[in-house]
Amino acid sequence: MNSTKNATSNATKDAAVRPLGVLAALPEELGDLIAAMQAESGVVTRTHGKRDYHVGTVHGVPCVVTLARIGKVAAAATTSALIHEFDVEAIVFTGVAGGVGASVHIGDIVVGDTLLQHDMNAEPLFPRFEIPLLGRARFDADRALSQALADACERFVEQEGTALATHFRTATPRVHRGLVISGDQFVASAQAVAALRAAQPDALAVEMEGAAIAQVCHEYGVPCAVVRTISDTADEHASTSFASFLTDIAGTYSTGILKRFLVAYASTSR
Ligand code: ADE
Repeated sequence: MNSTKNATSNATKDAAVRPLGVLAALPEELGDLIAAMQAESGVVTRTHGKRDYHVGTVHGVPCVVTLARIGKVAAAATTSALIHEFDVEAIVFTGVAGGVGASVHIGDIVVGDTLLQHDMNAEPLFPRFEIPLLGRARFDADRALSQALADACERFVEQEGTALATHFRTATPRVHRGLVISGDQFVASAQAVAALRAAQPDALAVEMEGAAIAQVCHEYGVPCAVVRTISDTADEHASTSFASFLTDIAGTYSTGILKRFLVAYASTSR
């Protein structure tokens, strides 16, 4: 990662402002965010729990940007560190997911209004999917943050969707909102998708981190939002589709969406 330890004064000028946490699992899913931060304010990098947290200002917003790596434990640990070590005022997660909803196609974007851990099962002690002792299976993302993220996605699709579709020979992307499900599995069979659909008929996308972040944010009262670009349809082609999407396009989506989101976020009074 090309970051400097000595940031310019911009990176730290507003010590009273709580930063926004921006999180992805893999570097490709962050797009150009750290480079943009480097150019705008410089970057202060703090290492904590084997992760690098990049602190600075990007598109006018004081941010802490980091990589969770893959899976629910990794995501929960990173979210906890963002809250406790960096006092973030909110968390936005960006990345790719497998499409599960019938109308969700590769290249579409899903904003997770609600998140659920599809592999949680403490039966017969607790109902299937319920998080023990929290009394709920579903966690809502923050409404205002999700709306702002969805608006940024719509603007991205409007302004860059046609070019993206032409370049990658896909349909023009659509933006969906609804349930995103998370588990410690890369889902890669039609049979597994059918089982997920049977259990959660309103699920739009499956990934490996979002619901863990939503649970931790719920427990600490920190607003969060999750945006996922569909890299595959979680079937037998999932791993090849995922790999090429990640290499070729994921960064373009994240860069385009986050830029629009952050510019709008910077202009809201906080
Ligand atoms: N992230 C992207 N594609 C996925 C899949 N098929 N299963 C789980 N997480 C994913």
